[in-house]
Amino acid sequence: MKKMLIAPSILSCDYGKIAEELKKIEEGGADLVHVDVMDGHFVPNITLGAPVVKCIRRYSSLPFDVHLMISDPIDYIGDFASAGADSITIHLECNSDIDKTLSLIKEKGCKAAISVKPKTPAEEVFKWLDKVSMVLVMTVEPGFGGQGFMEDMMPKVEKIKAEIERRNLDVSIQVDGGISEKTVSLAAKSGADIFVSGSALFKANDFSLEVEKLKRLAAESYPNK
Ligand code: DX5
Ligand code: ZN
Repeated sequence: MKKMLIAPSILSCDYGKIAEELKKIEEGGADLVHVDVMDGHFVPNITLGAPVVKCIRRYSSLPFDVHLMISDPIDYIGDFASAGADSITIHLECNSDIDKTLSLIKEKGCKAAISVKPKTPAEEVFKWLDKVSMVLVMTVEPGFGGQGFMEDMMPKVEKIKAEIERRNLDVSIQVDGGISEKTVSLAAKSGADIFVSGSALFKANDFSLEVEKLKRLAAESYPNK
C-alpha cells in the first residue's frame, strides 16, 4: 500500500518566524518540507535562493523538497544540493538541458524530479519517467499560493499514473496548487500520492489535525490500496 505524503509549502508560512513554522510542520506530522524557489523570470514572483535554504535547513529534520520555478536550474543545482535539498524538482519548460540537469541532481546526491505546468501534456513526461523519482503535476499556474485547484489536470495525473504502472516504475506523483480537504481526494483518486499544500494548511486552526485529515482523505481515495 502506497503511503500518502503531505508536503506543506512554506510559501504560505510566516518567514519572520521560520524556525517555529518548521517545527510546526514537523510536529504536525507532515512528511516533507516543500520549498518554492521562484526567480521572477520563469514565473512572475521572487521567493528565495540557496543561501536561505542553507540557513533554515537546521530547523527541520524532514526532507527538503525543493521546487525550482527558475529558468536555468542547471546553474544552481550544486548550490541547492549543498544547502541541504533532499529532492530537487525542475520544470520541463525551463531553458536548461533536462537530461544533464537530472543527472547533475543525482550526482549531487539528491532525488531528481520533473514538473509540468498546466498547459504541458502528460506525454511530455513519459520519456523522463525512468530518470526521476517523482513527477510534479501543477494544479495551478506556478507563481503564487492561494489559487484555485484545476480539476481539469486530473486526466493528466491519471495518464502519468497509468504509464508508471504499465512500465512498473517506482515513481511518485506529486500535485501542487489548491490542495485542501475539498480537493485532495480527487487528486488521490487520480493517482497522486504526494500532496503539496500551502494556504489551506497554514490557514487551518489546527495544523496537525489538518495534516491528518488530508492524509486520511487521500488514503481513502487512492486506487489499488
Ligand atoms: C505555486 C507553488 C505552490 C504553492 C501552493 O507556484 O508551487 O507550492 O505554494 O500553495 P497553495 O496550496 O496555496 O495553492
Ligand atoms: Zn511548489
